[in-house]
Amino acid sequence: HKFPVVVPAAGVGKRMQADRPKQYLHLHGKTLLEHTLHALHAHPRIGQIYLALHPQDPYFGHLPIADADWLTRVDGGLERADSVLAGLNQIMDADWVLVHDAARPCLRHQDIDALLSLADGQHGGILACPVRDSMKRGNGAGLVATSVCRDDLWHALTPQFFPLPALREALQHALTEGHTITDEASAMELASHPVALVEGSPDNIKITHPQDLALAELYLTERSK
Ligand code: C5P
Repeated sequence: HKFPVVVPAAGVGKRMQADRPKQYLHLHGKTLLEHTLHALHAHPRIGQIYLALHPQDPYFGHLPIADADWLTRVDGGLERADSVLAGLNQIMDADWVLVHDAARPCLRHQDIDALLSLADGQHGGILACPVRDSMKRGNGAGLVATSVCRDDLWHALTPQFFPLPALREALQHALTEGHTITDEASAMELASHPVALVEGSPDNIKITHPQDLALAELYLTERSK
């Protein structure tokens, strides 16, 4: 059976310093958003994709995939969590749902497979990577306040995969309470749901800064060889 995906793509990408939101920057002649959506859609167990866009998005309508029947467009919100919730609220008949950042075009099918295997168990989880560097917390004035032990410290990636009703409720609750929610797992944790760590590929990067684009290009080129 197939699983729906929510793709939040309603951000403006201020950190990219580009002339357009990062999901519309080009890589090998296609936008980042198209790479991401194709990576998801090409997987046999991925169903309908609910794409949260800025209500005044001027770019999406010009893409060749604008009218694809496997895409449902929804209006995003102020924060990423609002956009995700808007997508979740459009899904009628699913038990589990994936959420994947539009800004992660290098997603591998083997990582989707690993994550989807959680559907056979009790709780959802996220793709994640162990941190490699020594970790420090700063004191806010340019000095190290303390070293953070990196044992069992992970980067949280996407997709994140959870039972739909529990995720919807957890996000709604976290937003109502005014918590800062940067991913689905943080809302699930607040609601005391266990969240599994599924080790994924480190090349599933989120395009955030301009130099990330060249790295993504390199990863995608390597794969097409
Ligand atoms: O800003 P950040 O890199 O954390 O954004 C992660 C994803 O969330 C991006 O794909 C972005 O387009 C999306 N987003 C959204 N709605 C917002 C803010 C961000 O869909 N209000």
